[in-house]
Amino acid sequence: MIQIKDKTFEVFIPEAGLAEKVAAVAERINRDYEGKNPVFVAVLNGSFMFAADLLKKIRIPCEITFVKVASYHAMHSTGKVKELIGLTEDLAGRHVVVVEDIVDTGITMEQILAQLRTHRPASVKTAVLLFKPEALQRDVPLDYVCFEIANRFVVGYGLDYDGYGRNLASLYVLREG
Ligand code: IMP
Repeated sequence: MIQIKDKTFEVFIPEAGLAEKVAAVAERINRDYEGKNPVFVAVLNGSFMFAADLLKKIRIPCEITFVKVASYHAMHSTGKVKELIGLTEDLAGRHVVVVEDIVDTGITMEQILAQLRTHRPASVKTAVLLFKPEALQRDVPLDYVCFEIANRFVVGYGLDYDGYGRNLASLYVLREG
């Protein structure tokens, strides 16, 4: 058990369990993208550990780039718009694999995909560490999913609680009750 700020978390998926699934997903990508020279677009901050472990297991030629999602209130709109920042690569005609930590409502991924598609890539697929099916509100393609989990709050392995816990090697879940 660990304490982060005011909350207690317990181990949910240990480091070895994460490594095993991430390696298996990497193998599928190695097979599917043979000869395609994909560009992996990893979404910071949350995906940094997943992206590092996944990409160490990718053996085909590939490029890796990092983006951030910045939320802002758009004029004439009540909703928050999420903008992709830091994309410098030319993605036109490329096979893109988005690397994300978690798909919860799917709103973030939906907006990332919409913005990537304006660059006219040859294809776009998604690789996510975690997926919470019960929380999903958007129809987003999930091509490579390491773990489907219940709708509970998790930290570690890149994911944070109020900025803390990203450094933990295992995945932890909020203790209930
Ligand atoms: P979505 O837009 O609702 O799919 O949320 C995606 C983002 O919410 C992720 O990139 C995370 O930053 C954050 N998030 C969602 N669930 C969790 C969680 O259980 N722990 C930590 N961050 C989370």
